Amino acid sequence: MTVDEPPSRLIHDARNTAVWPIRPEHFITPANAFFTRSHGTIPRIDPATWRLEVDGLVDRPASFSLEELLRRFPRREVTATLVCAGLRRAELLSAGPLPGELPWGPEPASTGRWAGIALGDVLLAVGVSERARYVELTGLDEVEREDARFGFGGSIDLAKALGPEVLLAHELEGDALPTVHGFPLRTVVPGWIGARSVKWLGRITLSAEPSANYFQSRAYRLQREADPRNPRDVSAGVALTEVPLNAVIIEPAAGRVVAAGRVRVRGWAMGSGGRPLRQVELSADDGHRWMAAHLTSRGPDWTWGFWEAVLDLEPGERTLVVRATDTAGRVQPATVAETWNVKGYNNNAWHRVTVQVE
Ligand code: MTE
Repeated sequence: MTVDEPPSRLIHDARNTAVWPIRPEHFITPANAFFTRSHGTIPRIDPATWRLEVDGLVDRPASFSLEELLRRFPRREVTATLVCAGLRRAELLSAGPLPGELPWGPEPASTGRWAGIALGDVLLAVGVSERARYVELTGLDEVEREDARFGFGGSIDLAKALGPEVLLAHELEGDALPTVHGFPLRTVVPGWIGARSVKWLGRITLSAEPSANYFQSRAYRLQREADPRNPRDVSAGVALTEVPLNAVIIEPAAGRVVAAGRVRVRGWAMGSGGRPLRQVELSADDGHRWMAAHLTSRGPDWTWGFWEAVLDLEPGERTLVVRATDTAGRVQPATVAETWNVKGYNNNAWHRVTVQVE
């Protein structure tokens, strides 16, 4: 596919959309092409009456208006890539069933320039009790699960919450957040799965335990084997935190016909937890021989980097494979048999794209 072709929108409903292909020249994703994933309603909130409640294990529980938050706390910015834990789930279907889960391909990942205030600044202002270990974030949307209606939420470790990169964001690309991305205020938790970047934030609760919210205790958990009595239950799994190291081929797209000879291959990669990359490698023979790709835009911490390589391809059906390593020394599993899990999260097996070379 040439990048001049109009992008297509995948899994397109009002709540779940991703534009594909991601354009390798868009290190920052244009706001109108930023993927979106919402589990419930998309609330329209009046910023004049909206309030943020901060409670739980704090010295001074507080309730802030938007105007107060933006006036009282210093403005902070972060450029961060948001990656949905469902990224590349569809590939896992070849290793086992994933009933009821959205079959995302490599689309739900985007990079934004976010601005707002630091979550840590707000926590220091209200005073964190010594017993607090987790920061629960709850949205003002309504989700229905197991006969209950509640706001989407989850928790992050207090140590992460105090990092200067974790924002309560009010802006994306210099404009107020679009409604679908969480207006008037959302968390942005760089390096962690997208689900912890809670949109339409209404409440922050400090606690000694992780959140009991469905999306922390019953979903977004990694469980390798299904419980035969309750095959979709992952409550015994491990709660997801940092995104894993990943690498994706953007072009050529799967199924394309390309001319034999020198073929330019481009894509993105990001280190585990948003750490920098060490190396990206490409193979045209299913991983027997590898060549190093060139990192064209490495980006700061918390973002993807773009890479490119030129491969010499002979006619026939060819499977291109990419893998990366990061500065934490992480490597990617070779196959989806190693990454399959009950709800299909965090697939970071080597990404393979089969093309027809003529
Ligand atoms: N926050 C609320 N309140 N409700 C949601 O459904 N979805 C989460 C997260 N925050 C969600 C939410 C998930 S699963 C992802 S991947 C990101 O938001 C997507 O953010 P975006 O729609 O701005 O791309």
